[in-house]
Amino acid sequence: MAVQSCVLHIDLIHDLSSGAGGKYGRLFPDLPGLVCDENDLLALGRAGAAIDALADDAANDNPRIAAGHTMFGHMIAHDLTADRSLLKHHASMRAIHNFRTPRLDFESLYDAGPSGAPYMYDMEDPDKFLLGATENGNAIDVLRNPQGKAIIGDPRNDVHGIISQLHLTMLKLHNRIVDHLRTEGVAPSEAFSQAQRNLRWHLQWVALHEYLPLTVGEPLMRDILSDGPRYFRPRSSQPFIPVEFADAAFRFGHSQVRLKYRLNASASAPIFPDLAGGQPIPTARAVDWKYFLPLDGAVLPQLTKRIGPHLPHTLIDLPEAIVGPAPRQEYHSLACRDLLRARALNLPSGETIARHIGAEPLSSEEAGLADFGWKSETPLWYYILKEAEVRHAGEHLGPVGGRIVAETLVGLIDADPTSFRSADPSWTPTLPSRKSRTFTLSDAVALATSPHAVQTASA
Ligand code: HEM
Repeated sequence: MAVQSCVLHIDLIHDLSSGAGGKYGRLFPDLPGLVCDENDLLALGRAGAAIDALADDAANDNPRIAAGHTMFGHMIAHDLTADRSLLKHHASMRAIHNFRTPRLDFESLYDAGPSGAPYMYDMEDPDKFLLGATENGNAIDVLRNPQGKAIIGDPRNDVHGIISQLHLTMLKLHNRIVDHLRTEGVAPSEAFSQAQRNLRWHLQWVALHEYLPLTVGEPLMRDILSDGPRYFRPRSSQPFIPVEFADAAFRFGHSQVRLKYRLNASASAPIFPDLAGGQPIPTARAVDWKYFLPLDGAVLPQLTKRIGPHLPHTLIDLPEAIVGPAPRQEYHSLACRDLLRARALNLPSGETIARHIGAEPLSSEEAGLADFGWKSETPLWYYILKEAEVRHAGEHLGPVGGRIVAETLVGLIDADPTSFRSADPSWTPTLPSRKSRTFTLSDAVALATSPHAVQTASA
């Protein structure tokens, strides 16, 4: 029986037990849900519909955001939310369970640590991750079992070859930080926990100070960091993932995905079927990050696609290995799945939320659904894509999408007593970076892949 990376096989649904994760909740519990017909949603998201981008149009590249950030966003999504329920209408939100903790703590890298998940760590040096296949002494793949499945903290980080390469890069960075702490004389009993905290805090910094400003725009981010979230203020004892985030807003990232990726100097490939996960990465397809991030002045990294109502055809026709034996062809379309999830949770329309937060709602011409015979207001996920396109030429999210995404991430980090913003609010990055007192995804990747050891003070 195939076990899918992202969606649970129908036959396994009864095997689910309550994991260590948490609950979902609502950001806007008092707003009415959008009433719409399932068939209208399927018509909007199916193969061949306007949302299905069959060709890679260079004019649709987003000049603000390098392609590596899509993969970091994908990792964040997997770290926060795992709804493994079937695609159907949920009468009660309590019926769904989040198999992830509502914290940006990178449990998807660490799982239960060397004691709880020893198979991911090096038996001879359990402070470090065990890595997979090597070439010239350098690991080129994550650890895999004899059947090719990745032995990592979240199987979805092996749904395709690019995210599994980013996962590998983060594991390498952790191992490097352990080496560095040892040269600094950190007590052996502290090396793992200090390296883990160090990597978590640096990645939280990247999320808050690089990823979010790129994704939602600097002004909104400044506003939320200085005045705090307006709608999402979970108590640290009861954090939760808002369904408006997991089932609509943060799925904006699907529209950033490219039809094809340059992996290194000699290989390019689409995510599916070529780079489908669950199998070893051949050397020829190992990712060279300079094609994804600004790491080398001589190479312009490829870009994300602009945020908008389009998904690459590869995501409109997902392989059965991911969606399972779907009863309807439309269930292979990630756009249909995104639209159906929001309907299953009875999410409000984008216009309803815009009015509630005091933003100017898109007009029906701007939302553009009347052209498809649509009579009601706009489903939240589609609205957020369209809002980004209409308000910011798809370069970043607009007021509704941006607020849900930024408030959720900031609110979760602030509610986590172990995050740098709670535990040590004056902390600034300590790992080497190109610009002092800050840290970027490019810095993380450069440190993990550099032939030289980490040189500066630790957190
Ligand atoms: C790069 C290729 C990607 C693939 C192949 C992919 C695939 C998927 C699939 C199959 C699902 C489950 C759909 C469902 O049944 O509801 C999903 C869910 C999701 N995706 Fe993606 N995705 C990708 C990128 C991204 C990115 C870049 C982001 C955000 C920046 C993102 C955010 C999410 C979120 C928030 C969910 C809901 C997860 C949950 O609650 O279980 N994805 N994705």
